[in-house]
Amino acid sequence: MKTTTASKSKGSSNGSRANGSSSKNGNGSAKAQSKKSPAKGNSGKSSKDEAQGLRELFVNELKDIYWAEKALTKAIPKMIKNATSDELVDALTEHLEVTEEQVKRVEQVFEQIGEKAQAKKCEAMAGLIKEAQEIMEETEKGVVRDAGIISAAQKVEHYEIASYGTLCAFAKTLGEDEAVELLEETLNEEKEADVTLTQIAESSINMKASEEDEEDEEEEDEEEYESAGTTTSKKK
Ligand SMILES: [Fe+2]
Ligand SMILES: [Fe+2]
Repeated sequence: MKTTTASKSKGSSNGSRANGSSSKNGNGSAKAQSKKSPAKGNSGKSSKDEAQGLRELFVNELKDIYWAEKALTKAIPKMIKNATSDELVDALTEHLEVTEEQVKRVEQVFEQIGEKAQAKKCEAMAGLIKEAQEIMEETEKGVVRDAGIISAAQKVEHYEIASYGTLCAFAKTLGEDEAVELLEETLNEEKEADVTLTQIAESSINMKASEEDEEDEEEEDEEEYESAGTTTSKKK
């Protein structure tokens, strides 16, 4: 009798995957799951079904970030070409190398969980990359375009931070400990990249970009003043 009570109260400590995960399963992941699978799910589902549902969601998100990382290995070189600040060029060049490693790391995660590495188009990343492209086309090369590139790159990093944060949480819940380690490594790299971009923006680019704007405005004001207030029209 004693043993039954004891094992009941300590149920979650036996480490078995299905039970362990559902009892440890934070509200965050439980919510995420019920949101994504309203059609399939009904309230009578067992924890085994829930673990299966969460696993599917995890694999899908992994396919999404796999596509995103690969797309970034093509998009970052364009940003590097368009950037003028040495600091920014260096940071982007370094992050390109890091991203190439991250592609391989996602493949390792697929392997780790016994799934085939497969990419699925990430519409969000496709949109962010398109936006970056537009910014580069619509700005003049120099500090202003650099500031635009930083803004676009930080949006990318924030998307990645959200994705890898979620993937880490899902992997933890699913008991995929080795996958958690790999995903955390990438998550930290994305956070570092974000911090570096903020530092570059704060240290020089934003300041110079606003100075440049002010200079332009002053020049425009002078021109307007000269042509409006005097009889002779001066050309610059
Ligand atoms: Fe990445
Ligand atoms: Fe990144």
